[in-house]
Parts: sequence; C-alpha cells; structure tokens
Amino acid sequence: MPRQFFVGGNFKMNPISRAQKKIIIDELNAADLDPNTEVVIAPPSLYLLPLKDIVRNDIKVSAQNCYCKTSGAYTGEISPAQLADAGIPYVIIGHSERRTLFHETSELVAQKTKAALDGSLSVILCVGETLQEREAGKTTQVVESQLREVVTVLNESDWDRVVIAYEPVWAIGTGRVATAAQAQEVHAYIRQYLSTAVSSAVSGNTRIIYGGSVTAANCKELSTQIDVDGFLVGGASLKPEFVNIINVKR
Ligand code: G3H
Repeated sequence: MPRQFFVGGNFKMNPISRAQKKIIIDELNAADLDPNTEVVIAPPSLYLLPLKDIVRNDIKVSAQNCYCKTSGAYTGEISPAQLADAGIPYVIIGHSERRTLFHETSELVAQKTKAALDGSLSVILCVGETLQEREAGKTTQVVESQLREVVTVLNESDWDRVVIAYEPVWAIGTGRVATAAQAQEVHAYIRQYLSTAVSSAVSGNTRIIYGGSVTAANCKELSTQIDVDGFLVGGASLKPEFVNIINVKR
C-alpha cells in the first residue's frame, strides 16, 4: 500500500491569543484541501480541546509533547492516557526544541514514544542533527543513534502508528531549508536503517517526513523525493500558505 502523504503543522508556543487561533482555524476550515493528504495540527496544550471542537473533521489534532507516565506527581506534564481520553490522536515526541531547551535525552524520547503508543496514540517522532554535527560528517550517525533508542523499546507492530520527522536543527526556524538532495539522502538512510534494525515491512510502510523552514515556495521539489512522505511545518503552518503546502501533491 502506498504511504499516505502527511502534512503536520506544529504551532509551537503560538498563537498568543484565542483570537489569532480562531483566524488560523477559520482559514483551514474554509480551505479546499487535498483529501489524499493526512493533515495534523499541533497547538499548545491549552488549545487542544477547544481547537478539536471547532476544526473540521478531516484535520486531526496533535499534542506537542507528553510524559511517559499515566498519572501521578509530575507537575506540568500531560499523560498519553489523558490525551487519548480527550480524543487527541497524535503527539509529537522528541522535537529538537524539547531535546535542546528541555534537555530530553534520546532514552527519555524512547520511553515517551513507547508510552504514547501503549496509550493508543500515534507519534510524530522527531530526529535530526545540529549544524556542528553535520559539518563534522556525523549526520547519519546522530540520526541513527536517536532512532536506535526507539527501535530498542518498540515492537514491530508499534511502528504502524509512528511517523518519523527528520528535522535538521540547522534548518528549524532559520529560513535555511535542506536541499531536496540533502533531505532525500537522510530519509533514504533512515529507511535503510529501519530495514536493517526492524524489518523491510516497517521500512517500506513508515512515513518519513521533513521539517525545517518548509514554505509554500520550497515544498514542491522536496515533495517529489522518493523517500519524502510529507512535512512537519512550523512557522508557515500559522500562515495562509499552509494550505498550499498541504495541497502540494495536487
Ligand atoms: O516542527 C516543526 C519544525 O521545527 C520546523 O519549524 O518550519 O518553523 O522551521 P519551521
């Protein structure tokens, strides 16, 4: 079965008002969207439920993070069970901003991924290298080590609900998008790694999406790469051009 194209919008800690949020959602609700593309938007946790209630049914809602425990004394955290109970189907795990600003290790990312999957959620699992690591020729080594922790704790069937987002840290929010060739090279490496470390079925079926300064202007060529199955969009997901990115395969 062909992999369904996937476009995620990671709103990060935006918008800063409910009025702005309504404008973004009104635009998405009114848009003519490619029905063949899976669309997921990830607002701040405060907006998950109100947004789910007003957004059209063919757009899914995702959390930007969750913890690896079901409940308990973990101030400030949300559990997979709580998200599932609220009808939130997706969660982003391991975003580079969580790894760098909040010191999340690959081991914790793997624990969270497993907990989210065990809690019936689907996971957008983020990996990617820093500029320093790329310049040192360590891109694939870094990405593989981030994935290896996850591979260690997942069962083969868990991968049905994982989307891998390759997000080079140097491309996030910088306006410096990876070239189509750079993205394809790493995506192909990830697919090969999954084949070796998990199975050829998981390698063939898992969607690998690209994130990092994706815009309406640069998404076309990236979308034609054989191992690029979609995008995780940050800044541009807050703008009208998000619709053009969603519709890039049309
Ligand atoms: O999760 C999204 C990525 O961090 C990309 O963000 O499109 O603003 O570069 P960006």
